[in-house]
Formats: sequence, structure tokens, C-alpha cells
Amino acid sequence: MRLSKIAVAAAVALASSAAFSQTIKIGFITSYSGLNGNLGPYMERAVRLYIKQHEKELPPGVKIELLTRDDTGPNPDKAKQLAQELIVRDKVDLLAGVIFTPNALAIAPLCTEAKVPFVIMNAGTSVITTRSPYLARTSFTLWQASYPLGQWAAKKFKTAYTLVSDFGPGHDSEEAFIKGFTEGGGKVLGSVRVPLQNPDWAAYMQRVKDAKPDVLKVFIPAGKTATAVMKNFSDLGLASAGIKLIGPGDITTDEELPNMGDVALGVLTVHHYSAAGDRPANKAFVAAWKKEFGANETPNFLSAGSWDGMDMIFQAIKAQKGKLDPDKTMEIFKAYRNPNSPRGPISIDPETRDIVQNEYLREVRKVAGGRVANVELETVATAVKDPWKELQKKK
Ligand code: PHB
Repeated sequence: MRLSKIAVAAAVALASSAAFSQTIKIGFITSYSGLNGNLGPYMERAVRLYIKQHEKELPPGVKIELLTRDDTGPNPDKAKQLAQELIVRDKVDLLAGVIFTPNALAIAPLCTEAKVPFVIMNAGTSVITTRSPYLARTSFTLWQASYPLGQWAAKKFKTAYTLVSDFGPGHDSEEAFIKGFTEGGGKVLGSVRVPLQNPDWAAYMQRVKDAKPDVLKVFIPAGKTATAVMKNFSDLGLASAGIKLIGPGDITTDEELPNMGDVALGVLTVHHYSAAGDRPANKAFVAAWKKEFGANETPNFLSAGSWDGMDMIFQAIKAQKGKLDPDKTMEIFKAYRNPNSPRGPISIDPETRDIVQNEYLREVRKVAGGRVANVELETVATAVKDPWKELQKKK
């Protein structure tokens, strides 16, 4: 009698746990090798830290499985192949990650075809989110930082030269800055687009130096490329010629500041995230990061985009009690907002599925303990929707 009661209870428990057990599979694609391949872990760590802190909030029986894949840098063919395998073979519920624009663009049509929501946690060319209704972006667009940067710079400087990496985000950053700067009365003396990989820095920097602009505005992808720009700017005598270096925050990415050294001091940037931001939610984020990964480790803007992306994914999982429908998931993404992200208040624009966020003016300074940091000076623009899409609407 007793035994059979136990057996029945066990069978019921088994059946109910089977009924409520659900594994959400997330195909996570980023770069662990190739150009700036050290950046992938800044995204993956944020995702894993978020899951660790918040998995107890998941509906009972719901688990998350992260399938990580290396797209090997800006490599659209590889990214497409990985996404295809994750969708068809591994049957992921969601895709997430991706540093580079060409990779995000290559994946977008697959998301439409298979109805798989894709949370873009870095890639920043404006047009990306128009390529599939199953895309939502928790990172940024280059227009969001570079347009207000141009407007701000026009108040301080008369002439500028622009230098960008010759691919999507570089073109966006160039166009946005020039628009903001010239609308404010500034004059652009010249613009140069340099190869994404291994440009001949000496030749390009000399060209800028000869033009004698007040400022050089640069966009290159964050990571080791940013440190290369900084070193060449200094070594080739642009700093000593009195030219100011400015750009979106990609050029002073937080994790590279210790490698850049004193050349970075005084560089002014506009961006949505700094590890030195003193909002309580950011302090908690940075403290948790250091506790988990080491006292000398720092999150960067790729980490912030990934952290908030996971928060958005969690909202969708919780609201649907662990059973994800792609169209419902997208509706939840479109309504997402968080007044307390590490970067400040954020939301998703339901019309464009792009993030809405503040932009801060920052200066690289030495702070307590001799550390170098992107110190936020002021908020130059609040609740910024992707300016490029706003301009398209007016056309
Ligand atoms: C991009 O490819 O969209 C991209 C890459 C690196 C950045 C920003 C944007 O720092």
C-alpha cells in the first residue's frame, strides 16, 4: 500500500516535471578569433553572468542552453553557415550576439524564413534591423553616437577630417558626423575610408596631418584596432601637431584603455555606455563582473549590449512561461523597456525594433588608483531613437 502510494507520487512528479520542463536553446554567435576576436568573451561573459544572476526567476522547469559559435570575425559566409546549422540542426529558439554588421546582414534573411527571433547585441549599421521583422537590437546604431558627436563638435571646433573603416558602420558614422557637424556650421576638410583590416596607418595619418584640421573624427571597430589608431595617431605626430582626436566610444573601448596608455588621455567621445558610469545599476554590474571574472577585468559596451539583450530575452521567456512563440516574442521585444539598465534608461522602439537610449559625452581621464577611464561629463542627447531611421521617415 505504502509502496504503491510512493510509486504513484513518483509517477505524478515525473509526469508533471516532464510537462513543465522546457529548454530554451539560444544560438549565440560572436567572434572568438580573427579581427578583434578577443571581444567575443566580453559578450559571452555578460550573457552567462546575467543567466547566473537571474535563472531563479525563470518559470519552474525552464532552463536555458547557450550554443556558442565562432564566426571568426567579419565573415558573412561563416556567420550564415553557423546560423543555418543552429536553426536547422540544433533547432534553436532564438539567435543572439554578432559583433560585425556583414555577419548580421547575412543572417537576417534566415530569421525571416525560419521565424527565428535574433537579438543583435553589437552590430551597429542602421539598416540591419530593416532586413527582417525578426530582428531586435539592444546595442546601438553608429548614427546614435556620431550624429550628436557632430552637433557637439560644431560648437567647439571649426574644421574636421573624418577617417572610418570602409564598411557599413564606418559609412554610417562618417555620414552622421558630417551631417551633425556641417549643420552646426563646421567645415569638413576631407574624408578617408580605410580598409577594415591592416590599413597603412602612416599614409592615412600623414594625409590628415597635412590638412591641419582642428579635429580628426575616427570610427574603427572597437578592440585591438582602436589601440592601433591611438598609437599611430600619437607616433605619427598628430597629437603633437595639436589635432584633437574624437569619435564614437568605439575608439576608446573600455577594455583597451590600459593598453592605450597616456596617448588616450583627453580623447573625447560620445557613446551610450562607459564602465565608469556612476549610475547605481552600472556600479552593481561592474562589481558583479569583477567578482566573477577578476578585479582587473572590466565590462565594455559589447558587454552592456549583451547584458541588456539577455534581460530582454528573459522578459520574453517569463511572459510566455517558457513556451516561446516567435511572433509573441517579437511583440514582447517591441514593448521592452528598462529604466535601470547599466547605461541608463532604455527601451525598444516598437516601429524599428532598435534601442532608444541616452548618449553621453566622455573624456578619457586618469581616475583613482591611476586607472584610465571614460569619464562621463554630460548627457548630450536623451532617449535617442536611431537618427537615420527618423530621417528616412521625413523623406
Ligand atoms: C559593426 O560591424 O557593426 C561594428 C563592429 C565594431 C564596432 C561597432 C560596430 O565597434
